[in-house]
Amino acid sequence: MSKVYGVIAIKGGVGKTTAVANLGAVLANDFKKKVLLVDANFSAPNLGLHLGITNAKKTLHDVLLENCKIEKAVLSTGYGFDFLPADLRGSGKIKHFQLKQYVDKIKNNYDVVLIDSSPNLNHEMLAVMIASDELLVVTTPDYPTLSCTMHAVKIAKRRRTPITGLILNRVYNKKFELTIADVEEAAETPVLALLPHEINFMESLSMTKPAALHAPKTEAVVEYKKLAGALVGENFKDQRLKAKLERLLRIKKSKQEENRAVLMQK
Ligand SMILES: Nc1ncnc2c1ncn2[C@@H]1O[C@H](COP(=O)(O)OP(=O)(O)O)[C@@H](O)[C@H]1O
Ligand SMILES: [Mg+2]
Repeated sequence: MSKVYGVIAIKGGVGKTTAVANLGAVLANDFKKKVLLVDANFSAPNLGLHLGITNAKKTLHDVLLENCKIEKAVLSTGYGFDFLPADLRGSGKIKHFQLKQYVDKIKNNYDVVLIDSSPNLNHEMLAVMIASDELLVVTTPDYPTLSCTMHAVKIAKRRRTPITGLILNRVYNKKFELTIADVEEAAETPVLALLPHEINFMESLSMTKPAALHAPKTEAVVEYKKLAGALVGENFKDQRLKAKLERLLRIKKSKQEENRAVLMQK
């Protein structure tokens, strides 16, 4: 059965688009799923820039303006997944809330659809919430972002779109940062992945290739693989030496690992 995940945050720069590109890459390549990425950051789309696709002839804008069928705007990328791009034409005449209708039309062709969202709490983000079966909320371990995250969670709950969990991104592991416990307690939502700040993500962006395909064994990418596995109910076994030793020594599981195990049982 296909599932549509909206990746949201009421803040720019926290890592939504990076999460969409990397989850898409690992779901397609490590889990062999049929995956569609949708750029629904209507007024400032940039998922295409993460993927090196900037010259699409037809886009989500054309679909919503009824200029073309959705199938005609979907591109197959060289990264194992399909991609529905958007463009910078401006979104004045677009009926954002029809996104759901079009996603519903095509979603059964895929195992997973990931929708990238605008950071602005307006009809653009609400359209993503409505089009999604579930939401992943991206946050970073600082107070300003946490307050936005709490707000996003509140709105999703009010609109009754289930939140699968949080992605805690760009963690430096410094004393001044909020802890996973702080974030979970404030947002009343489990953290499903904790991603360190890794320069690879910025390097990959400059190469227009998801980090998961450019540097597949880094801590953060392995964490994306574990999250992706939990989303599709398949265990990802970390085969790196450190992980093998941790299993051998029965070192206590991290909180996000426990949360993923709970998700897998659902
Ligand atoms: N875990 C990470 N470590 C380091 N840089 C990251 C990480 N995740 C994302 N980035 C970088 O942060 C910047 C913003 O990411 P992006 O995904 O575009 O955010 P958003 O979509 O929320 O605006 C990009 O340069 C990206 O490469
Ligand atoms: Mg973005």
